[in-house]
Amino acid sequence: MTTTPTIELKPSSAPLAAAEREAILANPGFGRHFTDHMVTIKWTEGRGWHDGQLVPYGPLAIDPATNVLHYAQEIFEGLKAYRQPDGSVASFRPDANARRFQASARRLAMPELPVETFIEACDALVKQDKDWVPAHGGEESLYLRPFMIATEVGLGVKPANEYLFIVIASPAGAYFPGGVKPVSIWLSEDRVRAVPGGMGDAKTGGNYAASLLAQAEAAAKGCDQVAYLDAVEHKWVEELGGMNLYFVYGNKIVTPTLTGSLLAGVTRDSLLTVARDLGYESEEGRVSIDQWKTDSENGTLTEVFACGTAAVITPVGTVKCASGEWLQSEGKPGEVTLKLREALLDVQRGTSSDVHGWMHDL
Ligand code: COI
Repeated sequence: MTTTPTIELKPSSAPLAAAEREAILANPGFGRHFTDHMVTIKWTEGRGWHDGQLVPYGPLAIDPATNVLHYAQEIFEGLKAYRQPDGSVASFRPDANARRFQASARRLAMPELPVETFIEACDALVKQDKDWVPAHGGEESLYLRPFMIATEVGLGVKPANEYLFIVIASPAGAYFPGGVKPVSIWLSEDRVRAVPGGMGDAKTGGNYAASLLAQAEAAAKGCDQVAYLDAVEHKWVEELGGMNLYFVYGNKIVTPTLTGSLLAGVTRDSLLTVARDLGYESEEGRVSIDQWKTDSENGTLTEVFACGTAAVITPVGTVKCASGEWLQSEGKPGEVTLKLREALLDVQRGTSSDVHGWMHDL
């Protein structure tokens, strides 16, 4: 049922003091601080979406037998709102996130939230907490985290008959503390993130839980991130634990094809277009681990970068795998990587024209 509830405003009587908020905005980090409010919308079988509310941010009281705590029926999104040069606020491609949220819901046997309700919920929260959107000009933004959980109480393994959709917001600086400093990658040749027919293309917490052990192994090898190969041949590069990858061959950028076991990132998709706008060729394709190594060593693979809403575009420096290690772009951010990064950020910050109509004004 696709009813579209209105969102009732119940604002906080005690938002954080302006001085404390400003202190947080001066150094927000990533995902450490949350704004004063959140939006909640319920779904019940037979009734559809109902009880949309904007309420003070705070803990949820849930029964210990709530379905999501046991069987992980959960999906989420990540998108950002940016302060524009005139002081207004605009979010980046919320419709793309809303559609991906629907696709994730279908995969996890959850109800689909209408695109316009997803956007309305994000807008309501950003409008209410607009003072939390960092100043124009830097890299900071307000990161929005819409998510949905199964709230039926009971231990039966089945699609729940009740769900809760929530949007929270967090001021965000660089995801990696080093900013545009290249990150190091551990290429995991045995652990996989997702399998064909599985749920690797859905944005669900389980995929991130599945990535944690390999991420810890990467950290033990001295690397910032883990990169996964496909689950069948253990040969084709798929993605990082929470980001997509791009390979730069001179004037051409290539990102792994969406095989069903990797996530269709909104930043990944946007860059296929931004690159063409800048005169580069861009395409989806398959890159094997051997090709990555050989092409880096023979100099045809000139740069590699990671991309995602949280990470924006982050260059890759050292790459390690069981058979050795090599340095990408002499360990420095590559020219193409930096050009694409600036071009995308310029659209998001409103300092270049939004030719593709990606910015959503609030
Ligand atoms: C995002 O880039 O929004 C992500 O979902 C990555 C995240 C898990 C930090």
